[in-house]
Amino acid sequence: MPFATPSPFAAEALELGDHTDHMAKEIEEQPAVVAEILDRIAGRAVDGSMWRGLGLASFERVAVVACGTSLNAGQVIATALRGLGGVPTDTVVASEADQAVLTPGTLVVAISQSGETADVLRALDRFADRYQVLALTNNLHSSLARRADAVLDCHAGPEIGVAATKTFTAQVVVGVSAMISALVASGRIDRSRALALVGDMQRLPGLLAGAAEASLDRIPLLVSSVRDASGFLFLGRGAGLPFAAEGALKLKELSYRWAEAYPAGELKHGPLALVTDGTPRGRRRQRRAQDPGERRRGPCPRRLRHHHRWCRRRRTRTRTRRRPAALATDRRDRPGHVALGGRSSPWSPLQMLARELALQLGCDVDKPRNLAKSVTVE
Ligand code: AGP
Repeated sequence: MPFATPSPFAAEALELGDHTDHMAKEIEEQPAVVAEILDRIAGRAVDGSMWRGLGLASFERVAVVACGTSLNAGQVIATALRGLGGVPTDTVVASEADQAVLTPGTLVVAISQSGETADVLRALDRFADRYQVLALTNNLHSSLARRADAVLDCHAGPEIGVAATKTFTAQVVVGVSAMISALVASGRIDRSRALALVGDMQRLPGLLAGAAEASLDRIPLLVSSVRDASGFLFLGRGAGLPFAAEGALKLKELSYRWAEAYPAGELKHGPLALVTDGTPRGRRRQRRAQDPGERRRGPCPRRLRHHHRWCRRRRTRTRTRRRPAALATDRRDRPGHVALGGRSSPWSPLQMLARELALQLGCDVDKPRNLAKSVTVE
């Protein structure tokens, strides 16, 4: 890192510029944020020194502890760790940490953009004495950073919008890079494999920018055709599930419409009762959207296609003939493949979808009702 850099909190860094709201600005900043993060850490992820620099002991298992969007980022990181290194993982909703039973040799990865989320700090009361804690935060001066054994800076820069966007992206990229580095350092994967994985991630800035660009015209049209829907189901499979969860979380917090994420296979076990005549239904490219980790034989994964048919049989409407943004992944994505690079998982269109729906419904996208940027109460 250079000795002198402009403060990310300088007035011009916080100004809206040409944007109408901070959320739009922060969505647009994501490609640059990812590129800058990878400039800093790519080499150290590949040779294992990013992990060794943390000074932590090796681990047998990882428990991700977080809330909300940070929990979804943690799920992406955990999925990558399982898929790439076969490392078992636990996911602990911080407010439910009292219910968690962790095993010796577990590394607790506590994730919070603010580093001040009370539920996460309370969870540390339970874990910090017995387990190593690695904090992943956008605030190195936070309570979480002070209490952890080691800290990873997300390097997202200031995020003003209450809905997390670029901090999610930064958490995912830094967290997955750290886990790749740990896998190299522990001999679970070799450097050439790490180089290929990080190479995949280095395509992400272009993919995020391309997906956002392609969505600019399409998302408003799509949203105007589904604006009256009372609720939304985000279906995903495998490594796509955390992205489906994040898409649903963004939509509900910004537009105040019901939105839930489900594994596609669960549709027939209950949520299908919500699907009826007139329920908006996505077309092929949408169906592929949240399925970056599955092997697929056709243009859309077989099982996801199957669940889409369940909806079609219920005479749902296909609401748009135009293809929505290219949210989909390509065929090279498979279990064990990092679900971030390649042509996979540009999730910015899901953020744009939530923002656009909120705007069309007259909601304040930077300050959703009832929500705070940092939740400092349990
Ligand atoms: C995200 O859009 C939400 N504002 C919320 O879910 C948030 O991610 C959660 O409260 C956790 O915050 P943290 O990352 O600061 O711990």
